[in-house]
Amino acid sequence: MQIADVQGEIDRELVSKAQIENRIKQVAKQVSRDYAGKNVLLVSVLKGAVNTMAAFSQALSINAQMDFMSLSSYGAGTSSSGSITIRQDLSTDVKGRNVLIVEDIVDSGRTLDWLIRELKGRGAASVEAFALLEKPSRREINVSVKYTGFEVPDEFVVGFGLDYDERYRNLDSIAVLRPEVYQGGQA
Ligand code: IMP
Ligand code: MG
Repeated sequence: MQIADVQGEIDRELVSKAQIENRIKQVAKQVSRDYAGKNVLLVSVLKGAVNTMAAFSQALSINAQMDFMSLSSYGAGTSSSGSITIRQDLSTDVKGRNVLIVEDIVDSGRTLDWLIRELKGRGAASVEAFALLEKPSRREINVSVKYTGFEVPDEFVVGFGLDYDERYRNLDSIAVLRPEVYQGGQA
């Protein structure tokens, strides 16, 4: 889906499809160098990071394993609840593995901070993160994100996997949603 298909609901495009693809390729090149010979396990958080995982994994020049995890997230709201629970766990034992978390966006940092602690607690040899987007102005927890795609302003964004109430995930670029669409739901 493209912005033209949902024009009345979108304020503006923030990152184009081509910009996303180019940046993901650059990061993948860097990660391929950093993890050469390391048998990396990519861990992606469902569902928002699926598009990033697909593009990123294909752009790597190293052989990586992939697994997925589903965590509780925003539901229909636009701000974090702070309490995180596992909806669906990994099928891989991360003990001794070099894990690279692939995330859609780091907002408060709560989700990523929790996940890094969880995977380290399971005995991973290393845990780093690639987030396609970061909202630095919203950060509450100083979590380390080794690889970042783009920094975005403090606005609610959708597309390339990111949703509002399960919609807009299949938009091919990243866009700012018109506040009218939240119907007063933003904190
Ligand atoms: P955090 O725990 O506050 O860092 O939030 C991380 C999660 O919240 C992300 O993985 C997204 O699922 C969701 N999220 C945060 N900001 C946005 C946004 O602007 N649009 C859509 N989802 C978001
Ligand atoms: Mg997410």
